[in-house]
Amino acid sequence: MSPLTVWVPKDAGALSLGAESVVQALVSGARSRGRELRVKRNGSRGIYWLEPLVEVETGAGRIAYGPVTVGDVPGLLDTWLLDGAPHALCLGDVTRLPWLATQQRLTGARLGVVDPADLDDYIAHGGYAGLDAALGLAPAAVVRTITESGLRGRGGAAFPTGIKWQTVHDQVAAQKYIACNADEGDSGTFSDRMIMEGDPFALIEGMTIAGLAVGATQGFIYLRVEYPHAALALATALAVARARGYLGRNLRESGRDFDIAVRLGAGAYICGEETSMLESLEGRRGEVRVRPPLPAIRGLFGQPTVVNNVITLASVPLILARGAAFYRDFGTGKSRGTIPLQLAGNVKRGGLVERAFGLTVRELVYDYGGGTASGRPVRAVQIGGPLGAYLPEPELDTPLDYEALAARNALLGHGGVVVFDDTVDMARMARYALEFCAIESCGKCTPCRVGSTRGVELIDRILNVSPDSRAADLALLDELCDTMLNGSLCGLGGMTPFPVRSALQHFRTDFLRQ
Ligand SMILES: Cc1cc2nc3c(=O)[nH]c(=O)nc-3n(C[C@H](O)[C@H](O)[C@H](O)COP(=O)(O)O)c2cc1C
Ligand code: SF4
Repeated sequence: MSPLTVWVPKDAGALSLGAESVVQALVSGARSRGRELRVKRNGSRGIYWLEPLVEVETGAGRIAYGPVTVGDVPGLLDTWLLDGAPHALCLGDVTRLPWLATQQRLTGARLGVVDPADLDDYIAHGGYAGLDAALGLAPAAVVRTITESGLRGRGGAAFPTGIKWQTVHDQVAAQKYIACNADEGDSGTFSDRMIMEGDPFALIEGMTIAGLAVGATQGFIYLRVEYPHAALALATALAVARARGYLGRNLRESGRDFDIAVRLGAGAYICGEETSMLESLEGRRGEVRVRPPLPAIRGLFGQPTVVNNVITLASVPLILARGAAFYRDFGTGKSRGTIPLQLAGNVKRGGLVERAFGLTVRELVYDYGGGTASGRPVRAVQIGGPLGAYLPEPELDTPLDYEALAARNALLGHGGVVVFDDTVDMARMARYALEFCAIESCGKCTPCRVGSTRGVELIDRILNVSPDSRAADLALLDELCDTMLNGSLCGLGGMTPFPVRSALQHFRTDFLRQ
């Protein structure tokens, strides 16, 4: 009898929900039934509300079951091994679930599908077609393709990737670098982690193409230390890519060299800011550098450096493989392509939703998310990490694209979307933003270093001291936001006013209790 093949994610999110215990129960349960089980480990498809999601290979494709607990395993094994009878957890072909079928998975197309350690699986699913295409083009033509695709950085600042690459391409230097920002510090975000754990070759291929395009021979992945599973997946994939001639000297017999090393960050939020990241990569304390010069001109070790986010780089292979026009045809206005939105917080069906720019927040939160997990009304949605603005429920029809959000003094950032119900205290959330800034500030400039702490004190006064001084303190808080917004050296101090001001604007009554 041929062994039964099942797929169980090794993704950190699935593991935290018990995927490893499910694997052990499956293996021992099958053995006690005298059957051999082949367990393959994939990344997560990002349907976190159904993890651990177990998929069984059948003649009709993979059939999914989820969320599976250890207690469900005996019943599942009996179903598969004995009679194939229906099971309450059976979801059928998971790609037909509307939650997944309505997504536009470009960057995340292979997530949960392939074995992240298997290069042949990657290639069988379209991998390395982008590198093959890039090797047939002049470097300037590769840069042009990225420019024409309209790709903008997915790390937060949304800077056009082609322009950044062109700048590095145009520099004359003996050494250039590709520095991948895998610090992923924003609350409620996990798309970088999912790519690195579930499809690491996509990042490796994207960095290789970037290196060939701008003339860099060395890449670094700056990975947050809190991502041990990603570190392992990357180490495995890098070794395989090197052994198979996709990295290193004369890669793919092209006469070109490129290699990648991983460096672990120590967990400071500011090390996600690109110049602090470069300081940290050079072995120093993560502190923001004054710009100019831009990293593209004088970056890592003083050399021209492309700094790009994981999702930006992992989107590159597809653009080379399918062409700039294919990618540009997704999206709206100046926000081209797709964005992996990460839906989290108080929401029923959280996970990764990759769609073309332009989906509204309401569609994301209700159609995909199913509303709050608590069943209470949505009160606020924070977009773009801890320094993103809060949108109130009536503004949820705002499209998720860079310009539409900017018009509401909000930002899309790295695509994190965190939902809150009507029990949230928005004054406390504003205080939290300032406290976060005070804790994470690198200390280089006064508006952020001092302003954040004064801001916490001000909110405490507004909430706890006599209402008589409240109007003056609220005005002072607004003035402080102005100073931080306009006077900070980097986005940490400069964006902290977004959550504070949006809370003041839309939820002012929360500041006026007592
Ligand atoms: C305080 C702060 C934290 C940041 N954290 C991250 C991060 O964790 N990951 C990231 O890719 N970009 C982060 N950024 C943005 C980077 O500075 C930079 O814009 C980005 O890595 C460039 O890559 P991209 O063009 O591909 O987005 C942060 C910026 C600031 C101001
Ligand atoms: S804004 Fe804050 S984190 Fe940024 S340079 Fe100034 S002190 Fe450092």
